[in-house]
Amino acid sequence: MTNHEGIGIRITGTGSYLPEKILSNKELEGMVDTTDEWIQTRTGIVERRIAADDQPSSALGALASLNALDAAGLTPEDIDLIIVATISPDKIFPNTACFVQKRIGASNATCFSVEAACSGFVYIMAIGAALIRTGLYSHALLVGAEKLSSIINWNDRSTCVLFGDGAGAVVLSACAPEDNTYLYSKLGSDGNYTDILHVPGGGSAIPFSADVLKNELHYLNMSGQEVFKLAVNTMVAAAVETMEAANVTKDDIRWLVPHQANTRIIHSVAKRLDMPLERAYINVDKYGNTSGATIPIALDEIVRNGLVSKGDYVLLVAFGGGLTWGANLIRW
Ligand code: UT7
Repeated sequence: MTNHEGIGIRITGTGSYLPEKILSNKELEGMVDTTDEWIQTRTGIVERRIAADDQPSSALGALASLNALDAAGLTPEDIDLIIVATISPDKIFPNTACFVQKRIGASNATCFSVEAACSGFVYIMAIGAALIRTGLYSHALLVGAEKLSSIINWNDRSTCVLFGDGAGAVVLSACAPEDNTYLYSKLGSDGNYTDILHVPGGGSAIPFSADVLKNELHYLNMSGQEVFKLAVNTMVAAAVETMEAANVTKDDIRWLVPHQANTRIIHSVAKRLDMPLERAYINVDKYGNTSGATIPIALDEIVRNGLVSKGDYVLLVAFGGGLTWGANLIRW
């Protein structure tokens, strides 16, 4: 198929998987110098999930994927493209999508991963849609999968209270143009901020060594306040640009599905967009920040709880390390 004009795109299934183990704020009080009150007031987080030792990101992603395939009524062999968004890959290489492929038996898929941090899922949705539009792929499995507990410094109270493990997946399928529900994507990046949210060591810039270990450079490091300000500005700009490009207004949006990092960030974004807070989906209280997985997990909860109807506009918006940011607009 080479006819770009003749291809529509729609979401045919969503899925998610959250590890069983719950780590509460109260338990964190016994691990670092923090309080449940501080965490809830500053972030909105009450608890997060922690994956088992034998569950790397691909294991979480595979379970979310099987869930999404089931919802789509497809088998793993029907999938011809798997893209994983993760900053906690199973290994530096090969890419985590190949591990997901192996786990679910999607033998016909082309597989790669994208490291756009917390914007990872909005990035892979845009990439998946663009690849389907070429006519080369029919069913893309898009997976946000993170075992952030493996890159967190559990002695650093400024970060360890914020993150959690989990995975979400979406099946994006080619369809007739009149059934198209995928409206627009806006992505952006600014490499001037590469060191405000990063894992400093263990890559090719500072290869893994005893010094990396000693200086704890293999853990996630963040300048929280700087990230906070940029998060609000970039998410608002991406949301506005996306709505304008698709010719819809804030009043048309049924669900704003923001990256789940902090309820204060979500409240600020909704306020700046002049949208009622009830239309912003929030579940950061239950799972903390699962980076590339927050948006597909939220989307799956919205779908499974029957909170979205045909014709509703859903606006996904995220920001993350890089910096990266972006938005996708879907008409359900
Ligand atoms: O997905 C992208 C990833 N990241 C984010 O989106 C995070 C964006 N940033 C944030 O959400 C917020 O900046 C944080 C939640 C990380 C921090 O909140 P804040 O209101 O910006 O606090 P702060 O960094 O200004 O720290 C305030 C105080 C400090 O003490 P002093 O210097 O005022 O005495 C911190 O040392 O809170 C202290 N603090 C803590 N206290 C208790 C920092 N972490 C903790 C903690 N428990 N866990």
